[in-house]
Amino acid sequence: MSAHLIDGKAVARAFRQQIAQRVAGLAALGKPPGLAVIIVGDDPASQVYVKNKVAACAEVGMHSVLERYPADLSETDLLAHIARLNHDERIHGILVQLPLPKHIHADKILAAISAHKDADGFHAESLGALIQDKPGFVPCTPLGCMHLLKHAGVDPKGKHAVVVGRSNIVGKPMAMLLVNASATVTVCHSQTQDLASITCQADILIAAVGKPHFITADMVKPGAVVIDVGINRGANGLVGDVDTEAVAQVASAITPVPGGVGPMTIAMLLGNTLQAYERSS
Ligand code: GUN
Repeated sequence: MSAHLIDGKAVARAFRQQIAQRVAGLAALGKPPGLAVIIVGDDPASQVYVKNKVAACAEVGMHSVLERYPADLSETDLLAHIARLNHDERIHGILVQLPLPKHIHADKILAAISAHKDADGFHAESLGALIQDKPGFVPCTPLGCMHLLKHAGVDPKGKHAVVVGRSNIVGKPMAMLLVNASATVTVCHSQTQDLASITCQADILIAAVGKPHFITADMVKPGAVVIDVGINRGANGLVGDVDTEAVAQVASAITPVPGGVGPMTIAMLLGNTLQAYERSS
């Protein structure tokens, strides 16, 4: 079998075009949606991510600001910047790039962002709404994965979905979205015993581990749909958590890295920012 490649780049492009059209209508009214992106420190990967996020805003006609602070910024000062942006009428979404330096408590920072401007969907209020299957901001990467499944014609209803990874950013919200879509969900993590025996039962396998080529062909059920959330930087460029070439011989559909989930994350961020704008007016 050779799996269908799910083209995240194309799906994200189409999504951005729809956003751009909606923003063009709003900009004609005089006030575009705005996103503030804060980065603390000089982690090279994070620098690339935030640059791409701000560039994506410009592409769809959104207002954006990128605030860069040194790694020794105090927690108090960061909280003050967030408070200022919470009150800034041109800003509808606020994103603080993670990870933060160790001396800053990420929980405290995420809680300080106004729940109305939670473009990342990491606020406790947003996560509470997700658990209750109520409208709210949904974390961008798992939301992007759901869009890719839909685009590939995969309805999670009644299927066994296995999520490998239990981070607050991806694994846990991903599991909740799949439960809300009526899948039977298993969440695996670093303490899971006999991981392969579980992943081999997955009709839908989500890999969010952060280890290059961690999911091998023998861990995948023939015909499974495999979504690779991993972005691992190696000597040969970006590689995912899935051994794509080998797994593609077993799976029915698979997302590539790069060009799979990655572009969707940014597209969903734009969607969340537009949603924040629409709710504010
Ligand atoms: N770090 C890695 N992914 C993300 C994300 O989606 N949002 C933020 N704020 N930080 C991240």
